[in-house]
This record gives sequence, structure tokens and C-alpha cells, in this order.
Amino acid sequence: MALAGAYMREFPLLETEHLLLRSLTLEDEADVFAIYSNPEVTRFRDVVTLANKSQARAVIQAFQAEFERDSGVRWAITERGTSRLIGLCGGGWYRHNLSALLSYDLNQHYWNRGIMTEAVRAVVAYTFGHAGTNRITATTVVENPASRQVLRHAGFQEEGILRDWGFWKGDFKDLRCFSLLRKDTSTASVTRDVPDSLANRRGGEGVGSCSRPCGVAATVARTARACYQLKMVAGTHK
Ligand SMILES: CC(C)(COP(=O)(O)OP(=O)(O)OC[C@H]1O[C@@H](n2cnc3c(N)ncnc32)[C@H](O)[C@@H]1OP(=O)(O)O)[C@@H](O)C(=O)NCCC(=O)NCCS
Repeated sequence: MALAGAYMREFPLLETEHLLLRSLTLEDEADVFAIYSNPEVTRFRDVVTLANKSQARAVIQAFQAEFERDSGVRWAITERGTSRLIGLCGGGWYRHNLSALLSYDLNQHYWNRGIMTEAVRAVVAYTFGHAGTNRITATTVVENPASRQVLRHAGFQEEGILRDWGFWKGDFKDLRCFSLLRKDTSTASVTRDVPDSLANRRGGEGVGSCSRPCGVAATVARTARACYQLKMVAGTHK
């Protein structure tokens, strides 16, 4: 998730010990459908279970458009040496406070092998190492222990519960809010590789005058709007 995305000419490939994280293509349609047509995957998510492959295609196109607009990066997770997409990881970013919002989903056949922990660590390292991001936020519904574990293993701190913050599938949801700050990691100070155009916005609108809870709320609210747009594109919003 590159806040310095204007400088990013190519999609950032990420390699880990077992995984290759690459860009999504329309050839991934069946694999994306396999993930989001499974109610076990969508159970804790603010997306409805996909019913047909054209919806999966729309999801891919929405993520591709997000990258082209320079408003987010969504990586296709593959095992090294194979091309099959087994999961997605990434999110959007918010220039006003140099933050990013992370989410991820994995094909159920691959759960509990440490795959998402490995993918999230790579995305976090990229985000802090190659971009100006200061904070990464992630939220999970309180009933999702696997996602909580992934975030803990990746070094995120649990900040508390946003009561009734989520609303989807007809119900309000309590969300656990997690964050990882650049200064929590071993990378350098926040301003080091922030492009001037972004650094100049620090302390500007929505930052200096905003308390920490307000900043979290603003980030999550923006993400909610982005997700809503995505679901409208994918035809999955209810
Ligand atoms: C959340 C998800 C991405 C995790 O992916 P994964 O590759 O299985 O995660 P990992 O194997 O890296 O880690 C999972 C951890 O959760 C733990 N876990 C899994 N199910 C659990 C449960 N029911 N109760 C407690 N812990 C659980 C695992 O034991 C593991 O922890 P450990 O390494 O300490 O043993 C995957 O379960 C998924 O796609 N779920 C559906 C979509 C979703 O919830 N997305 C996240 C939305 S915020």
C-alpha cells in the first residue's frame, strides 16, 4: 500500500519464503469466485456470498481500478512456483494522515498453515519500507479469532472495540480495532521517504486538530465508503 503511489510505475511484486504476491488479473476469476462463494469465508465479512462468476470478475475489476486510481493495492496471494490465486491481501490508503487500511481473505482449503500471517508480514514490510505510511489499521468482527491471531502475529496492537461500528447483513457488528505504527517496527522515522507532496499535508486537514479516536473513525468511515462502492460494482451490497 504505497502512499507514494504516484511514483509507483509497476505493480509491486512481493516474495516471501513460501509465497508470491502479484497483481490480480481477469484470469483469476474462478479462483476469486472459489473464495467469495464460500459462506465460511464471507461469514465475518461485509460482503455477501458470491453467486456467480461475473460478480468475481467485477470484484477483480474494482480492485484493478483502485490500483489505477492510486487509492489502494490488492495483492493476489499465490504459492511460489504456482500461478493459482489462493487469497487476497491489501487495502486502501488515506493521504490526509498517511494511514492505510488492511484486509485479507484466504481460500478455506489453505487455512491454518500460516499463509496469511506470512502474507500480511510482507505487505506490512512493503508498506512501511517503500511508502510513506505511518499507520496501518485493521478491524475484525469480535467473533473472528483467526483474523485476530494473524494481526497479533504480524505485530499489530489491539486498540479496543468499536461498538456497533459495522453494519451489514442486517446487523450491527462490534469491531476489534488493531493498528501497527511505523515507529512500532524497526524501519526508520515516519518522514524519511514521504514525498514532499504528501509530507506537506501532515498537520493539515483532519490531522493536527483530530484526536486519535477521531482519526480511527475517519479512516474506518472512508474505508466503509470505499467498500460500499466496491460492493455496488460487484453487485454484492445489501
Ligand atoms: C482470517 C484468515 C485470513 C486467516 O488465514 P490463515 O492463513 O488461516 O491464518 P494463519 O494460519 O496465518 O493464522 C491463523 C491463526 O488463527 C488461529 N485460529 C484459527 N481458527 C481459530 C479459532 N477458531 N479459534 C482460535 N484460533 C484460531 C490459528 O491457530 C492460527 O494461530 P496460531 O498460528 O497461533 O496457531 C482466514 O481464516 C480467512 O480467510 N477467514 C475468512 C475471511 C476473514 O475472516 N478475513 C479477515 C477479515 S478481517
